[in-house]
Amino acid sequence: MTRGLLTDKVAVVTGGGGGIGGAIARRLAAEGAKVVFNEIDQSLLDATVSDIEAAGGVVTAVRGDIRLPEAVDALADAAMAVANGRVDILVNNVGDYRPAGRFLKTSRERWTASYAMNLEHVFACTRAIAPAMVSQGSGSIVNVSTVEAFRGIPANAVYSAFNAGVNAFTRSLAVELGRDGVRVNAIAPDLMDTLQTPVEAMLSGRDPSLVRQWVPLGRFGRPEDCADVVVFLCSELSSFVTGHVIPVDGGTTAASGWYQRADGKGWTNLPTAP
Ligand SMILES: NC(=O)c1ccc[n+]([C@@H]2O[C@H](COP(=O)([O-])OP(=O)(O)OC[C@H]3O[C@@H](n4cnc5c(N)ncnc54)[C@H](O)[C@@H]3O)[C@@H](O)[C@H]2O)c1
Repeated sequence: MTRGLLTDKVAVVTGGGGGIGGAIARRLAAEGAKVVFNEIDQSLLDATVSDIEAAGGVVTAVRGDIRLPEAVDALADAAMAVANGRVDILVNNVGDYRPAGRFLKTSRERWTASYAMNLEHVFACTRAIAPAMVSQGSGSIVNVSTVEAFRGIPANAVYSAFNAGVNAFTRSLAVELGRDGVRVNAIAPDLMDTLQTPVEAMLSGRDPSLVRQWVPLGRFGRPEDCADVVVFLCSELSSFVTGHVIPVDGGTTAASGWYQRADGKGWTNLPTAP
């Protein structure tokens, strides 16, 4: 559903070709925003551009690896060129959940790579784009974090730590930039059916109907579920909301280890119990 909530806003998205970023780029454009997105993969980039243009939207795509300073500069330059330096929205979406294995087996190189993929570019893109928002006295930044920053996740401790960093950065920057008219929030997805975590891989051969036991809302998430919340956070609908991390998780954070029993009779926090 589109309502023109973001008509003529200039919106920047990282990793806007596929998965959650792809849904966000398409949805912001459908709401009337002029979207400028970065993407490392040419075919995903082309698909988002053609979908947005086919729907009558306005889009600029910049191919590049957002971990690199030159890609951040190219994205910022493309954004500044759209409306004489005005930028209204920044969505820092790129990140990589794929498990690294037991922490005691991980290396310093792996931690550094995870920092570059999950946190450093959030600083870099914000540093490049937020000054335009401060000078115009308005803007909305949305960071894509994860529920794994709220709970303990085995075999992915470093990813969890850097996303906790995303959340802390979100809150601190929100306080710092509030008087400048810039709001800063984050979303924390779980169980999204994306390129990184397709439903088939999450199920790994198990019965799809089991999802009703695992997730209070009874289904896996769709990238569009995240895009809807991002539209809310970028629009006037959330004009008094800043410094928050909003789970988009079908209720998994609230359930926090509770599952519906296989026989449908009540709930258990001992999922392998009869
Ligand atoms: N999928 C989930 O269930 C889930 C859960 C929690 C958090 N997240 C977070 O959501 C964000 C998006 O995840 P997703 O599942 O949509 O991933 P995805 O892999 O499906 O999509 C990521 C997109 O970013 C692009 N990309 C990857 N590396 C890039 C780089 N270095 N530079 C530019 N573009 C790059 C990819 O080509 C792709 O288009 C990540 O920050 C991830 O940690 C996802």
